[in-house]
Order: sequence, then structure tokens, then C-alpha cells
Amino acid sequence: MDISVKSNPAEDQRSACIVLGVYEKRKLSSTAQQVDTASGGQLSTILKLGDMDGKLGQTLMLHKLAGTQCERILLVGCGKEKDFDEKGFRKALTAAITTLSQSGAKDAICYLTDLDVNKQQIGWKVRQATEISQHAIYRADTLKSDKENNLSLNKFVLNVAESKQLKSAKLGLSIGSAIANGVSLSRELGNLPGNICTPTYLSTEASKLGKQFSNMKVRALGQKQMETLGMGALLSVAKGSRQPPKLIEIHYQGGKKTDRPTVLVGKGITFDSGGISIKPSAAMDEMKFDMCGAASVIGTMAALGELQLPINVIALVPTCENMPDGNANKPGDIVTSMSGQTIEVLNTDAEGRLILCDALTYSEKFKPKSVIDVATLTGACVIALGKHACGLLSNTESLADSLLEAGKRAGDRAWEMPLWDEYSESLKSNFADMANIGNREAGTITAACFLAKFTSKFKWAHLDIAGVAWESGAIKGATGRPVPLLTQYLMDQCGKGYQV
Ligand code: BES
Ligand code: MN
Ligand code: ZN
Repeated sequence: MDISVKSNPAEDQRSACIVLGVYEKRKLSSTAQQVDTASGGQLSTILKLGDMDGKLGQTLMLHKLAGTQCERILLVGCGKEKDFDEKGFRKALTAAITTLSQSGAKDAICYLTDLDVNKQQIGWKVRQATEISQHAIYRADTLKSDKENNLSLNKFVLNVAESKQLKSAKLGLSIGSAIANGVSLSRELGNLPGNICTPTYLSTEASKLGKQFSNMKVRALGQKQMETLGMGALLSVAKGSRQPPKLIEIHYQGGKKTDRPTVLVGKGITFDSGGISIKPSAAMDEMKFDMCGAASVIGTMAALGELQLPINVIALVPTCENMPDGNANKPGDIVTSMSGQTIEVLNTDAEGRLILCDALTYSEKFKPKSVIDVATLTGACVIALGKHACGLLSNTESLADSLLEAGKRAGDRAWEMPLWDEYSESLKSNFADMANIGNREAGTITAACFLAKFTSKFKWAHLDIAGVAWESGAIKGATGRPVPLLTQYLMDQCGKGYQV
């Protein structure tokens, strides 16, 4: 689907569909008002029949209204006018695009971008509309013989009220589509099953970015190199699997050579069976999503390449499977991490932190400006925050604040949890420097406390995305989060030019 921006009056549109907002109590938005006048008051007459009140997310498709040039008019409920905010805007757009994608319309012009949304600039509205519409038409049908995606809609125009806003709208469009493409890539990788999306597959996919962008270089360390580096924690997880592990490195240079890089680390467990501490069978298939941290980091790098931001960023993806095997980690095993600290593996299902800790130690060599790791790390985070916010824990307040702010702006929120010393007491081991699990309490925090033992040399933040990275149930699948948050954070490092 091609998305573009244009500035056009609504009354004389020759389009398959025009999309107009209606507030609660059938209050027409000003564009809807103009169409109503052009059609001799038909919109108001139809609304009086009572099929639609204007409640947020309602839609009503009308056909061939006399006096208009278009085949269809899609009315979209926007709720109370005074309450129409960022959240409402997203909801109205999702409703619009969902209805459109089920219709036969081949092209559409959307006037929702003209509505006032808490005084947000046009660039922000266009960007959000672009992300939302790409998100809504995505289908996880890559491996289906019968593609359900019979989308008629191939052109979606976002209207801009005044032509002087076009410049900002175009910036919004390019940012929105870069993020949307990053999200789609991330969802695609997340949805692939463990037998296809192996560590080797992930590294091949990452290498494609190196071919696509001249300022992106990709390489992957193999088992031998990890042994030389002493990555005993990462390797201990990998040794229970027949799939060789990788540590993927993606280097993006958009800034000066000497600019210190931001390092993104993504957990890439391509399947988490739990290992010898095996998980129950119910919904175990969902553990193919245990590489969504990796997928979101790769998706963010794709967005970054498209936007060509003027900064340096390095993505590190430690990736392997967590399987039960004669050679797998056993409860009680003690491994030595790259940092030299020893770890008692009391539960082989707490494997994410074992692969992340070595990647975090490895990141020191890049003299990072900051390090952000992204991981589907704990079931406890799903219990604590559900699917609406990822967990954020950090050793640097200003970094945490920037990430929280980025999440709000991007509509991809995080929520901070405390990283207090007291919590790390439960990680004490009788036989090693630390255990890989705490007790039952505060599982998300103790997992972060474990990682904190490897991040004292740099500014670091951890995003636990176990709740936000995928949806369960009927709409099971990867969400592509937190690509919008991460891309926003990186744009925020670049100053004014990327402010939408
Ligand atoms: N990948 C899981 C975390 C997870 C669990 C994400 C459920 C989404 C839903 C992680 O590797 C894991 O198994 N964590 C354990 C840690 C425990 C053994 C301390 C968990 O959360 O149960
Ligand atoms: Mn696990
Ligand atoms: Zn896991």
C-alpha cells in the first residue's frame, strides 16, 4: 500500500473513498460539514437515522452520495471533541483502516489528519497515521498457501489542511514509514517458527541490512570466537542445542568516526523450551517469540538505515536455542561469564540473562555512550504490567527519563521499576558469585539486578518486553514493539531535525 500526503479540499474528491471524522452526538468535523453541505445535507440526514453516534472507533460506510465525486464516504467516530487526544486519534485511525481494508475501495483520502489532536503538529499526525495503517494491514501469512491478504486498498492519501504544512507532513511520512518498515520486519522475524528462524537465519537476515545500507556493516561471531572471548554463560545455554550460536554485530555509522555509539542489545533465543528445567507444554509454541528483543533491535537498525540518522549505533544480538539435551546446562551447574564472574545455574529456564550478560560485557569494548538491552526476559513482567507497557530498569536516571519520554511520544510506552540493591540479595549463591534466579518475589527486578552486575562500567537501561512483544489468543503474533520507542529515542539524540 502506497501512503502519501496531499492538500486538497474534500468536496471535489474523485476517490474510491473519503474518510471523515464525526464526534459524539453526531457532531460533524469541519470537513464532514463541507461534504454535508455539498451533498445537500445528506450526511446529517443519514446520521439522524441513528446508525452512528460518533462514539470513538465507530465506523459507517456510505455509498454514492449524490452531490459528491467519490464512490464511498467512510465516517469514523472520534468520541467527544474535547477529549479527542493522541490515544483517540490512534483508535479512530485503526478503526478507519480496518474498515477500509475490508472494503473493496482501491484508494482512499483520509481527512482525520486535519482534526485537532491536543495541538499536535501535522508531522506527528501523519507519522502516527502511517505507522498505524501499515500495522493494521499486516498479515502473518508468509507461510500460508492461501494468502488472506486480498487487500484492494493500494493507495492511502493523508490529507493536510494547508499546503504550508506539507513540509512537516512529508517529514512525518518518512519517519512513519521508516518505523513502520522496521516494525514489519520485526514482526515478520518474530512470527517465523523456531525451525526456520534459527540463529543462523537471524544472522543472514541481519547481513541483508549490510547490503542495503552502505554505512551499515554486519558480522557474526561464531562459537570458536566466543570461546576465545570466554563467553561461558552464553555458550552454556547454546550447548544444549544442535543449532550453532551467533553473536551478531551490526555497526551503523551515521555520525563522526569518533562519536561514541549507542549500543542496542537484543535477546535472541530462537526457541525457549526452558532446557532441563523444561516449561509446561501449554502455549510452549509461543516461546518462538523469545527472540523478539533481537527482532526489535534488527527492526530498529532497519529504520535507522532508512532515516540515515547522524549518530553511531551498534546492535548486538546474542542468539541461540534453549533446549534440553544430554549436553545441556543442568540445575546446579556453575559457569564462568566473560566478565570473570561465576554463575550458578539454578534454573535453566532463566537463560536470557545468561546470554545477555556476556553480550553486555562485550559491549564495553565499544566505549558506549549508553547501552540499552531489550529482552522477553520474565513472565513476571507480563503479570506486573500486562501488554500495555514494557518494564524499564536503569542505572542512570537521565537515560531512564529519555526512554520513558520516547515511549510516550511514540505511543509505545515503558514503565519504570526500581533497581534497588535490596532486591539483589536474593541472587546470592552458596557456591558461585551469584545464582541466575532469585526467589519468587519481584522476578522482573531480580532479573534486571542480575544484568546490573555486568553493566557497572556504562550507562545502561533494560527493557523487559515479555508483555508487549506479542499478542496471545486469537490474534497471536508479534507486535514489533518496541521498535517505535527505540527509534524515537535515537531520533531524540539527533536534535531538532527529527522532531515530529
Ligand atoms: N522467555 C522467558 C520469559 C517469558 C515467560 C516471557 C513467559 C513471556 C512469557 C524466560 O526465559 C523465562 O523463562 N523466564 C523465567 C525466569 C524464571 C525461571 C526465574 C520465567 O519468567 O518464568
Ligand atoms: Mn526461559
Ligand atoms: Zn527465555
